Amino acid sequence: MSAAPPHKLRDFLAEMTRIVAGPDDPIPLARDALAALVAQDDWLDEDYAQPHPEHYQQYLLYCDPLARFSVVSFVWGPGQFTPIHNHQTWGLVGMLRGSEYSRAFTIIDGTAVPGEEELLTPGTVAVIDPNEGDIHQVRNAVADTVSISIHIYGADIGAVRRQIFKPDGSVVEFVSGYANDRLPNVWGRR
Ligand SMILES: [Fe+2]
Repeated sequence: MSAAPPHKLRDFLAEMTRIVAGPDDPIPLARDALAALVAQDDWLDEDYAQPHPEHYQQYLLYCDPLARFSVVSFVWGPGQFTPIHNHQTWGLVGMLRGSEYSRAFTIIDGTAVPGEEELLTPGTVAVIDPNEGDIHQVRNAVADTVSISIHIYGADIGAVRRQIFKPDGSVVEFVSGYANDRLPNVWGRR
């Protein structure tokens, strides 16, 4: 059993539940809550911080029972990266450990055209907004260590039908699922 204190994630989930149940735009409120969560790297259970030797990992930490939001830890081994993809919902990326690059893409005449690349460092929170364009590619920015970012999405992201944009212009549908079968017990008092 990990020694990671569960209360920070528990308190964050309570705050997120209040946010999605309220009348206001969830993105700015969730952004502040996520910034507070990733301000210190002392709460993530080690089971959800393990890299895979061949590809990045996407661990579900929690999904709202009404799928109004989900919280995921992305664990990047050295050199690992995503395909160019979209999200079909709003999202937030909070950098917890290490660093990652996120490069925006725009589809022009059927081709994914690269835009600006953003470097996320610990404590940084980036916004994913389909209204402003939500196609990007993410990669570990650190050559020799693991990087971890905490993501919030406005849906059960592992069940959302999304698209991957290939270099040859083809588009592939995908549903990401999650790497884990079990979730952290944030309610246990130890
Ligand atoms: Fe993404």
